[in-house]
Amino acid sequence: MLFTEKKIGHIVLRNRSIRSAAFEGMCANNRVSEELISYHTAVAAGGIGMTTVAYASVSRSGLSFPHQLLITREEIPALRRLTSAIHHEGAAAAIQIGHCGLMAKRSISGACLAPTGGFNLYGPTWPRTITVYEIGAIIRDFTHAVNIIHEAGFDAIEVHAGHGYLISQFLSEYINKRRDHYGGSFENRSRFLVEVIRAVKEAAGSSMAVIVKMNLRDGFRGGMELDESVMVAKLLEREGVDGLVLSGGFVSKAPMYVMRGNMPVKVMAKYMKNPFMSLGTRFFGNFLMKPEPFREGYFLEDALKVSAAVRMPLIYVGGLKSKEMIGEVLDKGFDFVQIARALIHDPGFINKLKTGEIVKSGCQTSNYCIARMYSGQMVCFQNDPDGRKSMQGFTNKKEGL
Ligand SMILES: Cc1cc2nc3c(=O)[nH]c(=O)nc-3n(C[C@H](O)[C@H](O)[C@H](O)COP(=O)(O)O)c2cc1C
Repeated sequence: MLFTEKKIGHIVLRNRSIRSAAFEGMCANNRVSEELISYHTAVAAGGIGMTTVAYASVSRSGLSFPHQLLITREEIPALRRLTSAIHHEGAAAAIQIGHCGLMAKRSISGACLAPTGGFNLYGPTWPRTITVYEIGAIIRDFTHAVNIIHEAGFDAIEVHAGHGYLISQFLSEYINKRRDHYGGSFENRSRFLVEVIRAVKEAAGSSMAVIVKMNLRDGFRGGMELDESVMVAKLLEREGVDGLVLSGGFVSKAPMYVMRGNMPVKVMAKYMKNPFMSLGTRFFGNFLMKPEPFREGYFLEDALKVSAAVRMPLIYVGGLKSKEMIGEVLDKGFDFVQIARALIHDPGFINKLKTGEIVKSGCQTSNYCIARMYSGQMVCFQNDPDGRKSMQGFTNKKEGL
């Protein structure tokens, strides 16, 4: 079934595979680069149905990295080159948009905002409480970003409402302690999400599909659980969203819940420019980024519970590395699959499955790609001479290999 066409919104994908939004770290000075274009062109040439440019911020205040894309009008020509190159290879082009909230790096974002202020050890940042006026301004930034994306020729938009970024921070009772109409009841905590989706859908019109990536569970005690995520899914179905990506995890509380496995913290520390951050990561990294057991298709059971509650198109993500598991997920009724690490390891993964050259990815889920992404580009250690060297000393159980 993987190699059959399927419609999402008004667009038709040549097959059921989507390159999941996985931060490339290729946008120095927050601008599109040739590396970003080459990587997504390679994924498109490798047979994917649609490739997603990751983690683009709609506002300067939503940036957490100096090498993260900021959506501005100046980027339209470069984004047009990117979408043309992807289309030329027969794939569709999507872009993930969002605002990082409490993970903002103040030196580049100018501000650090959260539903409720307080210390965030994982930045480390000290966000202040966002005002209702600023909420309105960020919603307008979403509209502005969608207009730019439309002009740049994208086929789909993925709104990032998971992983503990701003929309997810509003949804989570643990973070959102507001007493106004954006906090408290589920209806209030989901108000920001609904306002963003309405703005995005209105600006997108019918020519672009609108997808939302959301959490099944936040992954820590006190965070959002499945009962509320089913409510979120139903709400988004009512809002007419074209597809839901079912993920989980919270960047400032349970970062490894998203990807599972261990974080190679020594690699992460090695590439950090700030010596204090590097030292802190080396000593406390394993405590802050607690390992989570990995198995193929780790979100499947929870995702099936959402699938039983809604009728809209659903996109499975999480630990897909083999033809067998992809087949199982599609057989269970998911419309599309999203894949990140197997495509970081090899952009040609989908075509190789199609020709029968391989039945399983060679990705070892070491999470080296994530450790590198924090200060540079995501890269698989197996494709990086420096990576093979850095991982040599770490080929023990604790480091995930
Ligand atoms: C290097 C890397 C960067 C990631 N960055 C993002 C991101 O920017 N936005 C997002 O929604 N998920 C991000 N993720 C999570 C992936 O999109 C995906 O949900 C997760 O890796 C599970 O899929 P996989 O098992 O196929 O890798 C990232 C994952 C990796 C490995």
